[in-house]
Amino acid sequence: MATDPSTPLPPTHGEKTINDFPLPTRRAIINSGYPEWYKRYKGITGKARVIPLTTEFLDYLKADGIILPPDTPVVPISDRDSGVFSATNTDASSDDDSDAEDENPAQNFPEVHGAIIAAIAELGGAVYPKLNWSAPKDAAFMLGNTLKCSSPSDIYLLLKSSNFITHDLEHAFDDTLDTADENSALVQLSDVQYALVLRKWVDVITSVEFRCFVKQRKVVAITQRDMNHYDFLENEKPEFLALILEFFARHLEKTFPEADFVFDVYIPKTLLTESRVWLVDINPYAPKTDTLTFSWQEILNIDPSTPTFKPEFRIIKKNDPEAYGFAQPYSAHKLPRDVVDAAAGGAESMLQFKNDWKTIVDGLIAAGVNDSDSDDEDEGGEKKD
Ligand SMILES: Nc1ncnc2c1ncn2[C@@H]1O[C@H](COP(=O)(O)OP(=O)(O)OP(=O)(O)O)[C@@H](O)[C@H]1O
Ligand SMILES: [Mg+2]
Repeated sequence: MATDPSTPLPPTHGEKTINDFPLPTRRAIINSGYPEWYKRYKGITGKARVIPLTTEFLDYLKADGIILPPDTPVVPISDRDSGVFSATNTDASSDDDSDAEDENPAQNFPEVHGAIIAAIAELGGAVYPKLNWSAPKDAAFMLGNTLKCSSPSDIYLLLKSSNFITHDLEHAFDDTLDTADENSALVQLSDVQYALVLRKWVDVITSVEFRCFVKQRKVVAITQRDMNHYDFLENEKPEFLALILEFFARHLEKTFPEADFVFDVYIPKTLLTESRVWLVDINPYAPKTDTLTFSWQEILNIDPSTPTFKPEFRIIKKNDPEAYGFAQPYSAHKLPRDVVDAAAGGAESMLQFKNDWKTIVDGLIAAGVNDSDSDDEDEGGEKKD
């Protein structure tokens, strides 16, 4: 690495700072969403299914609490009297099925639920889920530290527990330009066609994942994505650089609708296969995209129009502080050990944990135990026995 990314360069005279960051347009945010770019680049990315989400499913994601449906197909409530019954509600003689409806939220989004079941099967039984922009990486602890999902309830548990997913749903257009597009319309969150992206699960070799920054349709910076040191990368850097530039020129340079953007690639190589570059994701050219070994300030100050310009490729060196792995990704989102242990048993076990926890809390409330210290103090300032 040429500079230590933990100490961004102080701005010198005339240098741009993060305050000079050009706000992205809402259209640019839409263009970097998976459902949008996937249409164009299907052939150069991993196998996936894009499932359009209904209002009912989005309401389920946004609702408080986590109720998981059984992993079986359901039929809409309106179809009940057609003689077809849900796998979870086969008692045709029962008039009072409101409990079952309460228990099975998938009754409200049978098409999406069914499409998810079908996609998991088509993609070989295990998938990596994400919404338009983000994967629920901050919720991986809910499934024992993985995003590998083999059932709809695994997916729902991750999506409903993730702040990154909430960001996609509620804050996708934060810090964007509020100007109307060429049709004099301002894209609103309600105009976004949300989709659940299910990618075939791959055991990714994270040392060969790279993030590439594009400015004025030129690759200006490339960084390793996994913040650990790998000896072999130093020698293979020139080959990876050539592969990335060739991939960009062939597939993205002239076709991506934005001049500034960030793309992620995966370049696995085995003894049997040649290196092949796969597109993993496209991200907005915006402060919310993690710059990893660079800082945005550095990228803002790169001028690709100079005749001698060359992109910089950074990897983690042996003695870089990042290589010690002190930084815990998404640590602000982590939970106590009991929760992590429960999560190791999968969605069912996590739900059991949640129910047990509720029983404990209800018991404490019934026994008159108050969980607020300040309440005690209000009643005299001293703790009571
Ligand atoms: N199909 C897959 N199977 C298994 N792991 C995957 C798969 N796709 C991606 N990953 C892993 O998950 C990581 C994050 O994926 P991705 O870039 O799509 O998420 P993201 O939410 O857009 O991340 P970021 O916020 O950094 O842009 C990848 O770096 C890769 O290691
Ligand atoms: Mg991304």
